Amino acid sequence: MRIIRTANYQEMSQAAANIITDKVRSAGKLTLGLATGSTPQGVYEQLISNHDRNGTSYRNVQTVNLDEYINLAIDDPNSYHSFMKKNLFDLLDIPAENTAIPNGMADDLDRECERYEELIRSKGGIDLQLLGIGGNGHIGFNEPGTLFSSRTHIVSLAESTRQANSRFFPSLEDVPKSAITMGIATILDSKEILLLASGEAKAEAISRLISGDCDESFPASALKLHENVTIIADEEALKYI
Ligand code: PGA
Repeated sequence: MRIIRTANYQEMSQAAANIITDKVRSAGKLTLGLATGSTPQGVYEQLISNHDRNGTSYRNVQTVNLDEYINLAIDDPNSYHSFMKKNLFDLLDIPAENTAIPNGMADDLDRECERYEELIRSKGGIDLQLLGIGGNGHIGFNEPGTLFSSRTHIVSLAESTRQANSRFFPSLEDVPKSAITMGIATILDSKEILLLASGEAKAEAISRLISGDCDESFPASALKLHENVTIIADEEALKYI
């Protein structure tokens, strides 16, 4: 794993955005794996600003998101569909039909998991996957104990994840208890992975990722099995390294 150390969140976001825009500008065809949460928001702001200033076009880019809550309406302000529209898709020239997010409202969720795997394959697989990391080491919504061989599946969210995400909801009660997420094997099939981390709250997870064992009690450690992973993290997230 390569590590890029940055001074702060702004520089972390810029470093990741530079890697993405270089690929968008040079690749004829590209499938990006995208993430939600506070971590990638700065990257998305930089992509939008680069699109506005330099005309970087996303017309030929395909995207697949990592995850979505189950039983939260697609147009709920806290759904990941809404997050992506508001923070990225509506502000770029990407055709809506090029973007994909798991459907947590599907009648048959098992079928939806299979459909999502097929859809990723039909887009030629993921060229570059953006990841955040949970304090408990989750990637996507793959909580501790998830099999490294997992494909897109349904998960019960860890209490610590629901608490962390409750900052966006009126109360903890309102945070969904389950979600649909790309599996760890799905993520590892990506050709290249960028994992971002900012702030002291992520320092222990980053230290365990870099120095700890590779096992299923810490989902992000699966990334040690991949040959093209870059961690872009700021000083605070790297304070134990
Ligand atoms: P955050 O979430 O970016 O909001 O910190 C990251 C994650 O839980 O994967």
